[in-house]
Amino acid sequence: MKYQGIIFDLDGVICSTDQYHYLAWKALADKLGIYFDETINNRLRGVSRMASLEIVLERYDGVLTDEEKEAAATEKNELYRKLLARMSPADLAPEVKETLDALRRKGLLLAIGSSSKNAKFILGQIGLGDYFDKISDGTNISRSKPDPEVFLKAAEFLGLEPGVCLVVEDAKAGIQAARAAGMDAAAIGDAVACGLATYNLSTFRDLLDCVD
Ligand code: BG6
Ligand code: MG
Repeated sequence: MKYQGIIFDLDGVICSTDQYHYLAWKALADKLGIYFDETINNRLRGVSRMASLEIVLERYDGVLTDEEKEAAATEKNELYRKLLARMSPADLAPEVKETLDALRRKGLLLAIGSSSKNAKFILGQIGLGDYFDKISDGTNISRSKPDPEVFLKAAEFLGLEPGVCLVVEDAKAGIQAARAAGMDAAAIGDAVACGLATYNLSTFRDLLDCVD
């Protein structure tokens, strides 16, 4: 087999949290009188919480101190977590679970490589709390995608060399991070358009064709 491990982005790959991010950022933006829409929300994909805040603040007339930025990001996250609490195993698509199980049966190690500090909470909500062999997320990195750190850490946690890992991503920043890590990348959703991936998936189960 070409690969020994698969590293999955979480938001937009394993499950969809876009709408919750949108609602939480929108509430903060409205409070500060900042214009915010779904197109701007799409730019936040794969980007860390503080880098996302900076993108939201591009349309802000005033200036926030570092303390005010911390408070704004915390406020957004508190609302976001309230929305995440609504998620359940019903938010895990059967196709995703069946494909993960099939990859595991092939003997592949499976890891998460996510910028989110809420990754473990989300995995618990959708019933995958104990599923992945390793989790590399926003809590163990200091540089966000497109920096390769989160994927290099995931490979290290799995005990694998980067060259035998395949990354699955829905964000351009994530595909760039995978390539910078020396890993092949499979793009799904929005990331397909960037044209930088090794494989373009129309649907999650297409991943099975990439590993044989
Ligand atoms: C990524 C999302 O998975 O996590 C980004 O695609 C988000 O939109 C980032 O900003 C950080 O998430 P969190 O949960 O730590 O605020
Ligand atoms: Mg994503």
